[in-house]
Amino acid sequence: MRPVHFPRLLRTAIVVGLVSAGFAAHSQSTDVAAAEKLLEESKCGKCHSVDKQKDGPAYKKTAAKYKGKADGEAKLFTHMTSAPTVEIDGVKEEHVKIKSKDEAAIKNVARYILSR
Ligand code: HEC
Repeated sequence: MRPVHFPRLLRTAIVVGLVSAGFAAHSQSTDVAAAEKLLEESKCGKCHSVDKQKDGPAYKKTAAKYKGKADGEAKLFTHMTSAPTVEIDGVKEEHVKIKSKDEAAIKNVARYILSR
């Protein structure tokens, strides 16, 4: 390798290092595609959409409800995994559980909803 290539290599190494450090710092970032896929597989769209009120609240409404609250992600995790009783047109029923047992995947969906 010719010496002239060293600085460029070094710069590349620094950039790569910084970028991966950045990703590590944001390991809590949201995988939108994975969240939407799991929501679809779980048929949540029957009662929810991002911005329209259906039988269930729009995700934007839920995001607004938990805005600035530190426990939003935990609350939604419980909501999606514990089948709480909800009322639709005056009829009580069990809320559908998300179709996954993967804690990280479910938390990712919670972050997705909270960031709408
Ligand atoms: C049969 C209709 C129906 C389906 C299907 C459904 N939901 Fe809901 N969901 C509701 C209703 C009704 C509420 C409102 C409950 C309340 O406010 O008491 C609700 C509330 C919620 C909330 C707000 C919870 C909160 O703490 O404010 C979230 C988030 C949510 N649902 C996510 C989901 C996800 C994710 C799925 C798919 C696994 C799903 N829902 C499937 C009807 C549904």
